[in-house]
Amino acid sequence: MSPRYQEVYSAWKADPEDFWAKAAEAISWTRKWDKVFEPNAGTYGHWFVGAECNVCYNALDRQVAGGRANQVALIYDSPITGSIKRFSYAELLAEVVALAAVLQDQGVSKGDRVIIYMPMVAEAAVAMLACARLGAVHSVVFGGFAARELATRIDDAKPKAIITASCGIEPGRLIPYQPLLEGAIEQSTHKPSSCIVLQRPQHAYELRQGRDIDYRSAVEAAKAAGRKVDCVTVKATDPLYVLYTSGTTGQPKGVVRDCGGHMVALEWSMENEFGVKPGEVFWGASDVGWVVGHSYIVYGPLIHGATSILFEGKPVGTPDAGTFWRVISEHGVVALFTAPTAFRAIKKEDPQGEFVKKYDLSKFRMLFLAGERADPPTIQWAENKLKRPVIDHWWQTETGSPVSQNPAGLGLLPVKYGSPGVAMPGYDIHVLDDAGHELPRGTLGNVVIKLPLPPGCLPTLWNADDRFREAYLEEFPGYYKTADAGYVDEDGYLFIMARTDDIINVAGHRLSTGGMEEVVAMHPDVAECAVIGIADAMKGQTPLGFVVLNAGVSRDVSIIEREVVALVRDKIGPVAAFKMVVTIKRLPKTRSGKILRGTMQKIADNEPWKMPATIDDPAILDEITASLKERGIGG
Ligand code: COA
Ligand code: AMP
Repeated sequence: MSPRYQEVYSAWKADPEDFWAKAAEAISWTRKWDKVFEPNAGTYGHWFVGAECNVCYNALDRQVAGGRANQVALIYDSPITGSIKRFSYAELLAEVVALAAVLQDQGVSKGDRVIIYMPMVAEAAVAMLACARLGAVHSVVFGGFAARELATRIDDAKPKAIITASCGIEPGRLIPYQPLLEGAIEQSTHKPSSCIVLQRPQHAYELRQGRDIDYRSAVEAAKAAGRKVDCVTVKATDPLYVLYTSGTTGQPKGVVRDCGGHMVALEWSMENEFGVKPGEVFWGASDVGWVVGHSYIVYGPLIHGATSILFEGKPVGTPDAGTFWRVISEHGVVALFTAPTAFRAIKKEDPQGEFVKKYDLSKFRMLFLAGERADPPTIQWAENKLKRPVIDHWWQTETGSPVSQNPAGLGLLPVKYGSPGVAMPGYDIHVLDDAGHELPRGTLGNVVIKLPLPPGCLPTLWNADDRFREAYLEEFPGYYKTADAGYVDEDGYLFIMARTDDIINVAGHRLSTGGMEEVVAMHPDVAECAVIGIADAMKGQTPLGFVVLNAGVSRDVSIIEREVVALVRDKIGPVAAFKMVVTIKRLPKTRSGKILRGTMQKIADNEPWKMPATIDDPAILDEITASLKERGIGG
C-alpha cells in the first residue's frame, strides 16, 4: 500500500484531535475553538466547540481577498437550454451579496430556515451561499419531488422564505414549479412568508402579490442600491443546512450539517481524497438537491478555491452521449465525480466510446464514482475508454464526504474492482453481526463506524435527537450504523453489498420503499401492498410494487395498476421511477405477519432462494412467480 495513506491514516488514529486541528488551519475562523472535540455535547460530541466562522466568507470573500477575484468560481453549463455562463469569484460574491440583501429585506436572519426548490441553475448555488452568508439554514429540495414531499419538508423545516424558479427542464418537457409549490404550501400547516421566484424565459410564474418577489428585479435593485451585506458570524457548531433524505418511512430524515467541521472535512477531502488543487476545475455531475451537489458542486470546490461546474443536462440525450467529454474538454476539467448509472447510460448509447475520441481530454486526470455500487464492468469500460483511473468511493448524505476511497491526493492504491477503497481518516470501520460481535475479515455483516463520527458528519437530525439516536446509535452501542451490509478484506479494502433497511438506490437516487408503500396503500382499491427494489441494468435498482386488491373490486386490474403508478408519481414525484405494479392474490408472510420482501426480490431477480422456514403458506410464492412470469419479470 502507498506509504503516504498508511502514514496519514495512522497519524489520524494516533491523535484524531491533533489531526483535525491541523486540518482546520486551512479554514479562516473569526474565533478559534476552545476545544477541538467536546465528547459531552450533543448526541455523540461536537467538533470545534467555541469556534466562530462563516461558510460564505470561506467560500467567496476569502478567495476574492486572496487573489482569486478574477478566477472563474462557477461555470453554469446547460446543454438543455443551450447556454453557458461563467462567474468569477468576484461576480459570484456580488450575486450572493445582492440576494442576501433581498433575503434580509424579507426578514431572514441567523438561524431562520430557507427552502430552496430549484432546478440546476447557477442561482441555486447563489441561494445556498446567500443563506450561509446570513447564518440562515438552507434546505434544498430536489426538483424531481412532488408537492406532497415538498410540503413534508416545509412542515418540518418551517422556512421563513422559499427560493424557487418558474420551471425545471427535463429532456422533452418543462416542469412548471408553480403548481408544485402552490400545492405544497396549500398542503403544509406552516406557511412561508415570502417566495422569491426566478423567472426563466422558458416558462412564466404568476407572482402572487404580497408574497412573491421577482428574484431578478429584486437582486438588480439591491445591486443598483449598492447594498452591502456582511458575513454573519456563527458558531462552528451552528447548522449550515438541513438536507432531507429517505428514511424507512414516508417521513424523511432531516440531516443536519454544521458549519465548522463541515468546512474542515470538505477542504481536506478536495486535496487529499480527490487530488484537486486550488485553481483547477472540478466537476460534480449531480444535482444541488443531493448531498453530492452540496459538498462537491457548491461548498467543497469553492472553499478550496477551485472552479466548479454546475451542469444542467443529462449524460445522454443532451444532445448525445458525448456531452460529458464536451464539458470536460471545453472547461479543462481535471476530475469528474458522478454516479455509475450515468456511465451505464453512456455505455449503452456509445458502447465503443466513439464520442470520447472526438474531444481533447488532456487535462482530465481521474473519474470518481459514488452514490451506488459501481459494478466492475462499468468501471472497466470507463477505464478502458478514458485510459485514466476510475475511483469508486462510498459515503452517505449523513457523512457529507467520503468514508472510504482510494485517496487520489495521497497516492493511488492498487484498485480492487467492486471495492470503494479503504477507510479515510476519521473513520474506523467495523463489520459486526446482528448481535454486535466483530466479524472476521472477509465476512459479510453490518458496516458500522466507531464513534465519534469525524468533523463534517451529521451531528443530529433536525429537531429530532431521539430519532437520530434510534436510527443510528442504538442498535450497535458505541458505533454509528450505516445501514449498509458489506465486508472488509485482508488488505483493509471495504466492499459494500446492500442496504440492511428498505432503502433502495435507483439511478444513484436514494429512495424509501416504505415511503412508496405508504402512497400505494392510499389507493382505494388496494387492500395490501409491498414495494421492493429489483435489479435494473441501467439504474442499478428499480422499484416494483405488488398489490392485493380489496375483496369485491371488479374494475379492470390494468387500470388500477396504472392509477397506482400515477399516484406514486403524483405524491412522491417522477424521481421515484415507480413504473411497475403487479397485482397478486395475497402477499407472502411469515407466521407472525412479516412480509417476505427479500424472498420476493430474489424471485423477481431470478436469484436462487430458499423457502423461508417461517412462511405462512408456501403456495403463495408459486403464485407470485407465476404472476411475475406473466409480466416477463423473473425466471
Ligand atoms: N425535476 C423533475 N423531474 C426529474 C428531475 C428533476 N430535477 N430529475 C429527474 N426527473 C425525472 C426524469 O425526467 C424521469 O422522468 P420520466 O419518468 O418521465 O422519464 C424520472 O424523474 C426518473 O429520473 P431518473 O431516474 O434520473 O431517470 P432518467 O431516465 O431521466 O435518467 C440517467 C437516467 C441515468 C440519465 C440519470 O439518472 C442520470 O443522469 N443520473 C446521473 C447520476 C446522478 O445524477 N446521481 C445523483 C446522485 S450522485
Ligand atoms: P446517499 O445518502 O443518497 O448518498 O446514499 C447513500 C447510500 O448509497 C449508501 O448508504 C450506500 O447504500 C449507497 N452507496 C453510495 N456510494 C456507494 C458505493 N460507492 N458503493 C456502494 N454503495 C454506495
